[in-house]
Amino acid sequence: MALADILMLGRMLPVVEETLASRFTVHKVGRDEVASLDPGLAARIAGVACGAHVPVDAPLIDRLPKLEIVANFGVGYDSVDAAHCASKGICVTNTPDVLSEEVADTALGLLLMTARELSAAERYLRAGNWVGKGPYPLTAGTLRGRKLGILGLGRIGKAIARRAEAFGMEIHYHGRSRQADVAYPYHPTLAGMAEACDTLMVVAPGGASTRGIVDAGVLKALGPQGIVINVGRGTVIDEPALVAALADGTILSAGLDVFAEEPKVPQALIDMERVVLLPHVGSASRHTRDAMGRLCAENLISWFETGQPVTPVAETPFERKV
Ligand code: DGY
Repeated sequence: MALADILMLGRMLPVVEETLASRFTVHKVGRDEVASLDPGLAARIAGVACGAHVPVDAPLIDRLPKLEIVANFGVGYDSVDAAHCASKGICVTNTPDVLSEEVADTALGLLLMTARELSAAERYLRAGNWVGKGPYPLTAGTLRGRKLGILGLGRIGKAIARRAEAFGMEIHYHGRSRQADVAYPYHPTLAGMAEACDTLMVVAPGGASTRGIVDAGVLKALGPQGIVINVGRGTVIDEPALVAALADGTILSAGLDVFAEEPKVPQALIDMERVVLLPHVGSASRHTRDAMGRLCAENLISWFETGQPVTPVAETPFERKV
């Protein structure tokens, strides 16, 4: 039987490349080469494996008439037009669960770094200031007494909540609906949660429904001790409003692992000494990225061998039609 043709979009980990190469005919295409994809090849493609944040949009999907499945590397799949795939019966898969604990670790690390200015304190030591100027100044921020509002209490949000509880924080959450399996206070509006909390943990996915929802009003409601941490998607925060809120003291600080236009980071944020900025490393350990890569590949293998995806996204709960 002929091996299915798989389009590999963007750079992927060796574990994905090797696993797929042993089962399929794989065609590697850089994200800049998609526009000039050979029509003969496009007509044969049955599956797409896409690296994190590589766009799989409606025009590309429409150029692949035999496409059955898009396997996204990453839990967030805002770069894949899942609604368009659903309308055409194409299954989309992502890589949930295997990264939850890693991202939660990063989130708590980022929160601690931000509240206690740990990166600035380290820079102070390395610059010789401990010797030259004396002890690092006492920090305005602390975790003590903080109320943490989690925007997006999914699997990662819950892993963060468990850790934050151990740090003595009071947990609140906002999302589309109240969850029966948690006792944390639920807030039907984001603004209401921000009023009740001083620390906002953004874990929400990207996309049109969350774009810019952390706006100037939400930031003002957090108050002058407010800290914003973002490990979800940069687009969820209105970045200019965040810069303004940090600059005029509307909130205390921010710790950001994700940005609206990665890898570009606003210079105004880079220039702010107390803000902590990470280059989207939430899940970026070899251990976890390999697990994500294996799951990405397993979705394609399972689809073509058993007709079932392993981890389809909510919009496309499909089985293979044979
Ligand atoms: C994800 O899985 O969505 C992470 O942000 C890594 O891209």
